[in-house]
Amino acid sequence: MTLQTNPLTLDELQSLRSQLSHLHSPLTIGSVTVNSRVLQSPLSGVTDKVFRRLVRRHAPASMMYTEMVSAAELHHLRQLPQLMDIDPGERPISIQLFDRRPNFLAEAARKAVDQGADTIDINMGCPVNKITKNGGGSSLLRDPQTAIEIVEAVCVSVPVPVTVKTRIGWSDDEINAVDFAQKMEAAGAQMLTLHGRTRAQGYNGSASWDWIARVKAALSIPVIANGDIFSVDSALRCLVQTQADGIMCSRGTLGYPYLVGEIDHFLKTGRLKPAPSAVDRLRCAREHLEMLWDYKGLRGIRQARKHMAWYAKDFTGAAELRDRLCRVESVEAGCQLIDSAIQTLQASPSSCLLSPTAEVAVKL
Ligand SMILES: Cc1cc2nc3c(=O)[nH]c(=O)nc-3n(C[C@H](O)[C@H](O)[C@H](O)COP(=O)(O)O)c2cc1C
Repeated sequence: MTLQTNPLTLDELQSLRSQLSHLHSPLTIGSVTVNSRVLQSPLSGVTDKVFRRLVRRHAPASMMYTEMVSAAELHHLRQLPQLMDIDPGERPISIQLFDRRPNFLAEAARKAVDQGADTIDINMGCPVNKITKNGGGSSLLRDPQTAIEIVEAVCVSVPVPVTVKTRIGWSDDEINAVDFAQKMEAAGAQMLTLHGRTRAQGYNGSASWDWIARVKAALSIPVIANGDIFSVDSALRCLVQTQADGIMCSRGTLGYPYLVGEIDHFLKTGRLKPAPSAVDRLRCAREHLEMLWDYKGLRGIRQARKHMAWYAKDFTGAAELRDRLCRVESVEAGCQLIDSAIQTLQASPSSCLLSPTAEVAVKL
């Protein structure tokens, strides 16, 4: 991961922005127009309806993605999974699907469109063994013919644009991003999001924005850069280096649902939004916890623990708070812990002043 040590000045950021005037227009994904070049990535276990609602508060125009949905499970389920639950009016939204069987994916895509998806995204980047050993996710990088058949089958089954999210290759010895991306475009994909790491890298090392630039240069459809976007700084550097049509934020949004909006605002206006204070972030954490409780009950509390830990950073006492939040059993207990941390911070404002570590690895 890129650890940025010397942040750019406002002048430097504005100078980078002046090189990106081609991004001032909306993003066009086939028949869908999106009035933002900054996208919230699909994050399994994170980007449910509650999280997306928080992100959208700061980034109303941005494209959001559901967590990835198994097309095979969907084929066998009578009821749609909660993963596909979308707020009425929550747009633009993409439902992301994974599997290796074109017919299952085509069937799942139709259900996703019935649910209100504006686009269908096919996951061809997930590195997790459970997915790749069944031929899905990033293993499709090694089986371009099946990937082509998937895109073709999904394209004919739905009236909305079909997009692909993938990585630069399976391993350092098998980087095939340009050829693979061209094949996806020829098969009918209307946009490609490229995570600049190999499958073998997982989430380690730095994302190669260089490879993203090469793919961008080789395609006519929009290419979205993904990997190591943790701030307005890294977003601007990445956009200038890759010349991509937009960027997708991922781990930078964990415990920080402001990021997509901050970058979008800077791209649109050339002005930085004031950073949320530690108290603002804790208030957001509290609201997130309550919303997850309302939406998912006890399961929501368990899921909320990791979110709470991600919010609690960059102030005196954050480590201890994280430790306690990781073990909360009820919404009341979580809210009490957060309220008392907020009171402490308000009584002693200097404890909010630890330097921010937005670019430091989030513990997953
Ligand atoms: C917790 C977690 C869950 C993820 N879930 C998905 C997913 O469901 N679908 C997907 O395409 N990528 C998923 N990813 C990958 C991210 O969308 C993104 O490609 C990756 O984190 C690289 O971006 P970053 O370096 O900015 O984090 C996930 C990543 C993380 C850390």
